[in-house]
Amino acid sequence: MRYILGVTGASGAIYATRTAMHLKRLGHHVTALVTPPGRGVVAYEGQDALFDFVDEQPDVKNFFAECASGSADYAGMAVVPCSMGTIGRITAGTSDNLLIRAADVCLKERRPLIVVPREMPYNLIHLDNMTRLTRMGGIVIPAAPHFYDRPKTIEELVDTVVAKILMHLGALAGGAEIVKPWKGIALPKVTKQKTPSVKHLAKMRTKKK
Ligand SMILES: Cc1cc2nc3c(=O)[nH]c(=O)nc-3n(C[C@H](O)[C@H](O)[C@H](O)COP(=O)(O)O)c2cc1C
Repeated sequence: MRYILGVTGASGAIYATRTAMHLKRLGHHVTALVTPPGRGVVAYEGQDALFDFVDEQPDVKNFFAECASGSADYAGMAVVPCSMGTIGRITAGTSDNLLIRAADVCLKERRPLIVVPREMPYNLIHLDNMTRLTRMGGIVIPAAPHFYDRPKTIEELVDTVVAKILMHLGALAGGAEIVKPWKGIALPKVTKQKTPSVKHLAKMRTKKK
């Protein structure tokens, strides 16, 4: 399938690189829309490898590009990482660069639009814009990795977020997976406690290694 990957000037370019890498590994086509601040942050954070995993990079000033139109057969779009400025512009419907226009198209065509914001702390403008985007049909997946798989590298940690992005894009068809889904852990047979004891959890952790 064909996906649009928006990349903005928020920190966390590695999230874009890993998203593009996994999309390509799974056989998808990737159109990258990178804003000028996005290009700067990709270079500054040493993530130029991102461009090895994209099929095309239309200029964000070129509204004649295919993804500016709803008639193009894109399956969805993820903005990874997404700056607070870009979230604001998407929710305001400015369509003033190709990334914002492509996001607007996804919303109007009811295609998945995922944004991965990276900021802290949030102010009320940020929270308000994320709420409004959710109401409009967008999906906010914050760059908030999980640790219960005990990732050993930054890439493994980042992939806990990327797995969620690809799942919501519908890019994981046919049982493909990036991170093993949580299968639960066995509770001790006889326990008066509703939740497992710390001792039991520690034992389970040793077993899992
Ligand atoms: C190194 C660096 C890191 C930045 N990190 C963030 C960030 O995490 N979140 C954010 O919203 N803006 C961040 N910014 C600011 C954005 O790049 C700036 O607001 C820019 O106008 C966003 O434009 P864009 O959304 O068109 O890419 C960062 C800027 C720099 C130079």
